[in-house]
Order: sequence, then C-alpha cells, then structure tokens
Amino acid sequence: MIGGTLSKWTMSYFAIAITWLIAAEALMAAGFGFPAADVAAADTLVIVHMVCIGWLSMAMCGALFQFVPVLVGKPLFDERWELPALVLLTAGLTALLAGFLVLGGRLPAGLWLLPLAATLLAAGFALVVADLGLTVWRARPPVGPAHFVLAGLVSLCATVALGTGFAWSLSGHGGEELGKVLATGVPLHAIAGLGGWLTLTAMGVSYRLLSMFMLAPDVDGKKSRLTLAAGSAAIGVAVAGGLFAIEAEAGLGIVLAAAAAFGLATFALYGRDVAALYRNRKRRQLELNTKMAAYGFASLAAAALLGIALVATGSFAAHVGAFAFLVAFGWLSGLVLAKLYKIVAFLTWLETYGPAMGRLPTPRVQDLVAEGRASKWFAVYFVSVWGGTASLLFGQASVFRGAAAVMTLATAGIVQELIRTRRLADVAEPLRLPNGTQPPCLLYSRT
Ligand code: HEM
Repeated sequence: MIGGTLSKWTMSYFAIAITWLIAAEALMAAGFGFPAADVAAADTLVIVHMVCIGWLSMAMCGALFQFVPVLVGKPLFDERWELPALVLLTAGLTALLAGFLVLGGRLPAGLWLLPLAATLLAAGFALVVADLGLTVWRARPPVGPAHFVLAGLVSLCATVALGTGFAWSLSGHGGEELGKVLATGVPLHAIAGLGGWLTLTAMGVSYRLLSMFMLAPDVDGKKSRLTLAAGSAAIGVAVAGGLFAIEAEAGLGIVLAAAAAFGLATFALYGRDVAALYRNRKRRQLELNTKMAAYGFASLAAAALLGIALVATGSFAAHVGAFAFLVAFGWLSGLVLAKLYKIVAFLTWLETYGPAMGRLPTPRVQDLVAEGRASKWFAVYFVSVWGGTASLLFGQASVFRGAAAVMTLATAGIVQELIRTRRLADVAEPLRLPNGTQPPCLLYSRT
C-alpha cells in the first residue's frame, strides 16, 4: 500500500509544485524566455529552473516522502525535516530566479543572490537526500525500485554541486577551474538533473505505482537492475567522463556520444519493462492515470527518436530547445501529472476513509474522481505539448506561445479536478462523510 502512514506535507509540496508549473507555462505563453530569447539566456534559465526545481523536483520530493517509507517498509527517518526542506527550497528557488533576473539586467545589481540561492537550495536538497537516504539505509539491503531512488538522489547531489559551482562562478567568485567547468559543463548539469535525478527516479517510482494501480506482478528484479545499470552508466559517463574531459581540455563530443548510447539502451530496456507491466496486468480496464502515463511513455519514445534524428542530421544543437521541451513537458510533466491524479485521490481516500474502514460503508477510491471530465483536460494537455514541440522544431514562435497558453489552461483544468478530489466534491451522498469522518484539508494531511 502506498500510504502506511501519511506524510503530512506531501500535499503542500504538490500545491507549491503546481503553482510553479502554472507560473512557468503562463510566462512561456507571454513570450518570456526561449524561443524569443536564446536557449542559454537568463530569461530561459528562469523558466528552466521554475520547471526543473519548482515543479518537477518539488513534486518528486513530495511524492518520495510518501513513497519511500512504503517502498522499504520503514518509517521516514525524520518527518520533521520535510517542512524546513520545503521552506529552504522555496526560498532558494526564489533567490535563484532573482539572481538570473539580475544576470539578464532585469533587476538592479545583486549577483550575490546566486551564491545565496545555491546555499539555500543545497541545504534544502541536503535535507531531502539525507532524510530519504537514511530511510533506505535503515532498511538495507535496498530492494527493487529503491535502487532507482538511490541513483536519483546521487544524481541530484551531482546536479546541485554543479549548479552551485556555476552560481559562484557567475557571481565572480569561482576562480579559473570553476570558470572552465561553467564554460562547457552546462550539459553535464542538465543531464544529471533531467536524466539522472528526475528520469531515473520517475522510472523507479513508475515501476511500483504501475504494478500497484494495474494489479500487475512487479518487474523481474534482474531486468529492472539491467535497466538501472544502463541508466547509471549513461549518467556516470556523462558527468564523471565529462568533468574529466573538461579538465583534460579534450571536448565533450565522445563522452556525450557514449552517454547517449547508454541512454538509448536505458529507454529501450525501460520500454520493455513497462510493456510487460501493461501486458501482465490483472486490471483489464485501464484507469485514467495509467492511460495518461502511457502518453508520457510515448513522449519519452518520441524524444528518443527525435534525438536520434537530430543527431543524424547534425541539427541537435539547433533544436536542443524542442528536444528538452518534449522531455520536460511530454515525458516528465506528463507522467507526474498523470500519477498526481491518482496519488491525490488515493491519499485523500486513505486520510478520510481509512479510519472508518470496516466500521462504516465507505466509497471506493475511484468514487473520488470524475475520469470522463478529467480525461478531456489531459488530452488537451498532451496535444498542446506535442503541438508546442512541433512549433519549436519549425521555428514558429507565435504558434508556440498559443500552445503554451493552451497548456496553461489544460493544467488549470487538471488542478481544478485535483481540488475537487481533495474537497470530496464528486463523492455522492450519503457516503461522502459518514459519521465520525472528517473532510481533508486542501494543503496538508492530518496524520
Ligand atoms: C542548487 C541548485 C541549482 C543551481 C544553483 C543551478 C544553477 C544553474 C545555473 C547557474 C545555470 C546556468 C549556467 C550557464 O549557462 O551559465 C544552470 C543551468 C541549467 N540547470 Fe540548474 N541549477 C540548480 C539545480 C538544477 C536542477 C535540480 C535541475 C534539473 C533537475 C537543473 C537544470 C538545469 C538546466 C537544464 C540548465 C541548462 C539551461 C539552459 O541552458 O537553458 N538545475 N543551472
């Protein structure tokens, strides 16, 4: 079960994450950052970190605080670290965005904001990594998806270390060595973050959630370990090999090509594992979350094919923005939104009706959601993401802004469904609040 004990602040992480997502989408719709600005411009860095830290990392941390204890069958190492971590991450991200605005000349001088931001973010992520890492350590040896989570946490440390180095360097305090890493090492930071931390963790979590929500047997341990080995090799080669190449002033070409080969092998193996989960499921009728997750997987496959095509035609550098957009919004955000839809319903059900189970008649988890209504928002979301990717590939900036506006609307629609779930708005009387049950709070769970 996902919710042996409920994590008090998971809903708060989700709420803050979704707020950053909608803000980033609205800014893209307003024409802020890429493609109006360069992919490496300060405005683009603002959007990138709103999405990567504010939305995806916050949602992932919130989910892991709930999920890791269940995965390893031990309570979280220390629940009291969840809220300080959330505060530090929010403050750090706000300072980081302000620092980027200074860098782009939109705010008056204040480059010291960047090292301050890096320190706050490093402290917040350190609390997350320590809390989750020690939880897994207490239950050693780690099992199945816990290995993916550990690999994700190691990648998060690498991402934060590189980001911190960049922040000091950009504020003029980095010295020559850091300057060298900043000059060519940004892809290593991006790969460690999007590929290692977010993708490897999402893969591990998806194995467990898919088998749970589709009533499918777990993926064979040997197969998932091979997938993880290929994924870890991709990230390890990119980051460690990349740093070595920078130090040796050898160029990143060969290292990135080797990492890409391991990356493609990882996606192929992961595709095989996920296909087996769908094939062997006992729940024949797919729920909305598993149907929508499939669009996330399709986006990952499309991103892999797009990457191959762009490299083969020598146009990867020119279209890296479209590629990263599909990875961030089609694969990662698509999967996270699909899973949030189920996780919020499941946790709300546990919190409200768990205590009454067996004593009073209670609704089913599926009674908390209206899938028909929500599926329209998901369909609009994925179509607009794919349309946005195509418009970037064909250099149609105004079409991209339209697609981003539709994405914002679709996300707001999905959020409205999540709020309705939290409010038990779709549960029919008299089952809605049987005697002695309490309605859940919107932004945190009563534990
Ligand atoms: C302590 C936390 C972090 C700090 C201080 C930080 C800082 C930075 C800085 C300064 C750059 C720009 C380097 C340059 O081009 O001059 C950058 C780029 C980037 N960061 Fe971070 N970062 C952090 C965490 C993350 C995380 C967690 C992710 C992803 C999960 C991420 C994803 C990216 C990406 C994709 C880029 C390249 C963006 C582009 O070129 O448009 N960062 N980061």
